[in-house]
Amino acid sequence: MEHTKHIWRAAILLVTVLVVLVVGRHFVIPKSFGEMGYYRYDALFEYMGKEMRHGSPNACADCHDEIAAAKASGKHAPVKCEVCHDTLATHVKDGEKYADMRINRSYELCAYCHQKLVGRPALVAQVDLLEHLELSPGQPIPAEACVQCHDAGMIHHPE
Ligand code: HEC
Ligand code: HEC
Ligand code: HEC
Ligand code: HEC
Repeated sequence: MEHTKHIWRAAILLVTVLVVLVVGRHFVIPKSFGEMGYYRYDALFEYMGKEMRHGSPNACADCHDEIAAAKASGKHAPVKCEVCHDTLATHVKDGEKYADMRINRSYELCAYCHQKLVGRPALVAQVDLLEHLELSPGQPIPAEACVQCHDAGMIHHPE
């Protein structure tokens, strides 16, 4: 009998761990988990209650119809305004402008899609930044390099 002690100890430990798991589960699993599937159902209502940040694809056209029309007929048609600027909610509240919209003139914005990269598919026009800006290697790229030549009219309507 003496030699079965360690087995009993292991069994008691196992049972204790199981009891802690089964009981503890009720305390740590969120209330609505599993109600409608393998997720926390309440999370849906929390997201539905959040303020909308983005507008619909045509939200900017309501007030900027000329720029929107120019963009729609140029090569930047697939790039949504909010990609280059900011979300609608930073600019419009209750259908009216209440704060300035960000204008991002950094070369990084354009480079994000147009910098020549070895692995980048040729679907989007690519430029070697230094070559295109006629800079020699090591020369810093001016912060607003691209908008010096590509002005708003061109950026909103590249042909
Ligand atoms: C590819 C990026 C890009 C997209 C897409 C884009 N913009 Fe711009 N926008 C810019 C940049 C960069 C400037 C600043 C240009 C400058 O200062 O020369 C600018 C300037 C502006 C200005 C300042 C006024 C002007 O015309 O100079 C307005 C207003 C504006 N954009 C609205 C819009 C709206 C509305 C859309 C969508 C229909 C849009 N933009 C789409 C990059 C973009
Ligand atoms: C409810 C009308 C309204 C909507 C919707 C709207 N704007 Fe504007 N926006 C204005 C007004 C008014 C101005 C100031 C006069 C102007 O430049 O036309 C302005 C100005 C701007 C400017 C110049 C900087 C500034 O804030 O003065 C940019 C850039 C701009 N809007 C981008 C956008 C983008 C991008 C969207 C969509 C995400 C958008 N706007 C949606 C009304 C609007
Ligand atoms: C989110 C990605 C994105 C950003 C940011 C962006 N572009 Fe584009 N651009 C495109 C796409 C997509 C096209 C259409 C495909 C093409 O023609 O290369 C395009 C086309 C162009 C073209 C026409 C190229 C051609 O085929 O003749 C020019 C010029 C251009 N963009 C300049 C700019 C400049 C300048 C900026 C910065 C203000 C900028 N783009 C920011 C995605 C982007
Ligand atoms: C010194 C003026 C100048 C500056 C600065 C400049 N560009 Fe250009 N870019 C041009 C000219 C000119 C073209 C040719 C336009 C054409 O062929 O229609 C061009 C064409 C492009 C094209 C289309 C290339 C193609 O293969 O069709 C892209 C993309 C572009 N530029 C992106 C940029 C970016 C990104 C920057 C900033 C890093 C920038 N440009 C800065 C003058 C400039």
